[in-house]
Amino acid sequence: MNRISPITISPTQSTNSVRVLVDSPSIVQTFSIQNRRYLGSKYRLLSFIEEIVGKECKGYKTFCDIFAGTGVVGAKFNDGQTEIIANDILSSSIVCLKTFLMTDGDYRKSITHKIDYLNSLQTNEDNYFSMHFGNSYFSITNARKIGMIRSAIDEISKSEQEKSILLCSLLYAVDKIANTVGHYDAYRKSPDIDKQKPVTLLLPEIDWESNHNNRIYKEDANALVRKIKCDVLYIDPPYNSRQYSDAYHLLENLVDWGKPTVSGIAKKMDRSHIKSEYCLRGATEALEDLIQNANCKYILLSYNNTGESKNDRSNARISDNDIVRILKAKGEVKTFEKTYRAFTTGKSDINGHTERVFFCKVRTAKL
Ligand SMILES: C[S@@+](CC[C@H](N)C(=O)[O-])C[C@H]1O[C@@H](n2cnc3c(N)ncnc32)[C@H](O)[C@@H]1O
Repeated sequence: MNRISPITISPTQSTNSVRVLVDSPSIVQTFSIQNRRYLGSKYRLLSFIEEIVGKECKGYKTFCDIFAGTGVVGAKFNDGQTEIIANDILSSSIVCLKTFLMTDGDYRKSITHKIDYLNSLQTNEDNYFSMHFGNSYFSITNARKIGMIRSAIDEISKSEQEKSILLCSLLYAVDKIANTVGHYDAYRKSPDIDKQKPVTLLLPEIDWESNHNNRIYKEDANALVRKIKCDVLYIDPPYNSRQYSDAYHLLENLVDWGKPTVSGIAKKMDRSHIKSEYCLRGATEALEDLIQNANCKYILLSYNNTGESKNDRSNARISDNDIVRILKAKGEVKTFEKTYRAFTTGKSDINGHTERVFFCKVRTAKL
């Protein structure tokens, strides 16, 4: 992997639309793909997944991460030779997937100037974001600034790719300071909200030299699976009734910027268009349909065994028996296990748990 260290930018002239406020050379701090709090992130399980792929999947050229979330799994296999296909239904995932897995040129200089500009913005005026999310998730000062930066991104972005990078940078910056336990089902009651650290955009560390082969989709996984073929299909769906659209509504709202009506204490917008079948009663049928229509050589399925928790929302939607039955209809099945401590919402009483990967060598690959 190409490691990118912080760079030094010299002062430059103003351009037409962007006032670059860098008067002296600035050291730009960076962030990495895994520097985000995300329910079900597989960052700490990457070596486990890599070991299984190394042992079981021979000569693969295409790796599809069809429920990509943060994208850390696809990024792990992004070596410049393997074609990575990454997909998710959330816009807030897509801008980050496009940033880390699609940027294929040296973006650092132009993006650094824009990030410096966005960080320099200041306002005492309210906007959509501060009116709904100020004095709760964010201090009023930060909320005003976040809203102002979001509008400015639309004005200063020269291309969709550049816009994705700036939105991704904003999203990681917002996640770092949000007054939450890592998701937006609720905010913490905090008398010191005014003392929140200022929101600061950083430069993403992108392995851009490996990105020329990759593809990103924003589709329902069951629709996409009918259109693509790949050697390795990695499947990491939500496993309980907690919808990702509920947990990350605020980030989705910020990225889409349609300024919808929000309601309730958590200030959620309408999310019916991004609800996942995998969190509902039809989860087993959805998985069966996905597997039946997969055109691939190998399948890896991550699925938790949280067992019966007191909190019903944490219980897995699909039983182990059904998973094995569905995969066996496709080929030979093996199960791999690893015990680890997961990032949870804090409501369930599960600490160490076993993470499983169900592996299937597909019997008659149609490739
Ligand atoms: C367990 S998370 C994936 C985490 C990811 N492997 C990582 O390490 O960051 C599940 C993801 O599936 C997405 N998702 C849920 N239902 C989906 C669907 N029907 N099609 C595509 N993506 C979906 C969610 O938005 C969420 O990002």
